[in-house]
Amino acid sequence: MTEDAVAAIERGLAELGDAYRDAFATASNEISLRDEYAKVLGKKQGSLTRVMGLMRDVPADRRPEAGAKVNAFKDQVERTFEQRLADLHRASRDAELHARPYDLTLPGRLPVGRGHLHPVLQTRDDLLTIFRDLGFEVVEGPEVELEENNFTKLAFPPDHPATDMQDTFWVGVDGAPKDARVLLRTHTSNTQVRVMSTRTPPMAVVSAGPVYRRDDDITHSPMFHQIEGFLVDEQVSMADLKGVLAAFAEGLYGPGTPVRFRPSYFPFVEPGAEVDIGCVFCSEAAGTRATCRVCKTTGWVEVLGCGMIHPDVLRHCGIDPERYRGYAFGFGIERIAMLRYGIPSIKHLFENDPRFLAQF
Ligand code: DAH
Repeated sequence: MTEDAVAAIERGLAELGDAYRDAFATASNEISLRDEYAKVLGKKQGSLTRVMGLMRDVPADRRPEAGAKVNAFKDQVERTFEQRLADLHRASRDAELHARPYDLTLPGRLPVGRGHLHPVLQTRDDLLTIFRDLGFEVVEGPEVELEENNFTKLAFPPDHPATDMQDTFWVGVDGAPKDARVLLRTHTSNTQVRVMSTRTPPMAVVSAGPVYRRDDDITHSPMFHQIEGFLVDEQVSMADLKGVLAAFAEGLYGPGTPVRFRPSYFPFVEPGAEVDIGCVFCSEAAGTRATCRVCKTTGWVEVLGCGMIHPDVLRHCGIDPERYRGYAFGFGIERIAMLRYGIPSIKHLFENDPRFLAQF
């Protein structure tokens, strides 16, 4: 052995010592400091690894001595590194604190395109405006609802086939009593129940919002939006309902828009009806009816369900049916938007394609 192996290690460490101290002191940010640290202590290419290679030549009885020197060196490197890192952090924090303030509220340099409401929400707002102008108050109801408010109080008997048409998503609520089943509402008629249960007539209310069902095809989506409207007072008849819905059709499609009532069934009204509006996409006179896909050549488009509120429903909500009567109506907003803009599939409304949405 030409040189004492332990002495060779000591010399190696001393050389490294001068180099790393300079390198750490001149590193101007955390990244370059960490680079320098890796050059010394890095597992693969660190220069300490090279010095450690000399360990092979150290006789077994002197290894503990050599090992202690290497460890002491490592500790020193680590301490110097931590110290310098803390200095750099402090310096950059000071620089931030003393720099000119950064004003997040200044306008940006690039023009930012202005968005607009989704066509379904535009239609919702226009519809609500029509009803507000007719004297209805706008009220919101919850989307997660008790079975009682969505079905039971609306006179859907348990297991009634009508609940099949409105099969929905049930919600698990920890600790809820067994008989308080919770669901995503299938219609906005829950708002009718909630409002009638907490107020005394007269009342005239509309409510809009999302509803949920199992349906999924080109005219149905598992989530869609509805508007529910109702009025309760002492002297209310089907004639009032017809008047309001005729005014609604005119508000939507212009004066003279024809409206037709067809008898229909909903458990919460008696009598119940479906309402068609005269097709605005074709006309017999212009010869476009025979090929109209929107009304399927009938000249009528079904838009809503309605009727006189069933006495049982009034009773369930604490309103005396001997004294008060009411009418109610409900419809899907997407359907109105599709008719209004000539949109062929409900899917377009939920795909969020900017090329589609930019057209409204
Ligand atoms: N809730 C019914 C549905 O979603 C729509 C409806 C029909 C609402 C008749 C009413 C009504 O208020 O009277 O299918």
